[in-house]
Amino acid sequence: MTVFNLGSINADLFYRVPHLLAPGETLASTKHSRGLGGKGANMSVAIARAAARAVHIGAVGSDGRWAVERLLEYGVDTRSIVELDTVTGHAVIMVDDQGENAILIHPGANRALTETHIASALGAASEEDFFLFQNETSGQVEGATLASARGMRVVYAAAPFDAKAVEAVLPMLDILVVNAVEAQQLTDELGVALADLPVRDVIVTLGGDGCRWINTDEGTEQTFPAIPVTAVDTTGAGDTFTGFLVAALDRGLPMEQAISLGQQAGAIMVTRHGTADVIPDLKDIQDARLA
Ligand code: RIB
Ligand code: NA
Repeated sequence: MTVFNLGSINADLFYRVPHLLAPGETLASTKHSRGLGGKGANMSVAIARAAARAVHIGAVGSDGRWAVERLLEYGVDTRSIVELDTVTGHAVIMVDDQGENAILIHPGANRALTETHIASALGAASEEDFFLFQNETSGQVEGATLASARGMRVVYAAAPFDAKAVEAVLPMLDILVVNAVEAQQLTDELGVALADLPVRDVIVTLGGDGCRWINTDEGTEQTFPAIPVTAVDTTGAGDTFTGFLVAALDRGLPMEQAISLGQQAGAIMVTRHGTADVIPDLKDIQDARLA
């Protein structure tokens, strides 16, 4: 029905560099651009592009109206985004010639979200709806608790990874999405195998190696091969995967198809420079004929 997405909104400042910065180094960038980003905003745009309804729960500073307007333009419901008396989140993103990145974020308004605001945004949600969140805002535990009490399906993309944060929300989750590094950190730091997590569906994205889906209820595991593409910029590909996945599930598609759509959207995304502004839509996916 609707995906309520508690998520970050950032100004993404992109710098193309010959290599990623080393400690003490001064380096000249060869190209600069600025766009809409933040893992949360990227997911909301992906959901809208995947033809589902996204309500974004988030915050910007007084310098962030452009970001809200852009989300609205991209088809996201922005009525639950507040403007706070602080700075909008931003990210300095370096991308090298191999498409590898390094990202510095300043959370700003994203970390100033309150439980009251999240609760009022979720007031309109029902058990038909999804609640999606990641780690770049405040209020994750409160949001997940409220959403699960309302009977919503709760999906968490554990990025950027924080073992304590994962532990706190685990009991509320229906679906957990992690990349290979996060999966390793999770098993190491929590000392529990993915298949033993109290979460029905665990999805591990493996970049060039595809994706794993563990259904802990049925004790099954399925792997999905990667779609071969030439990567120029992987930034936002994971967020795009998650957005398409959740949108597809929200539209009633089975997990296999949702994963496939996520993979196709993610594959297109790594061939494009940028984040929220360049997320593909369903027609791009159809035209690309990747599946
Ligand atoms: O996952 C990519 C995102 O991480 C960027 O858009 C940046 O804003 C950071 O949040
Ligand atoms: Na990209």
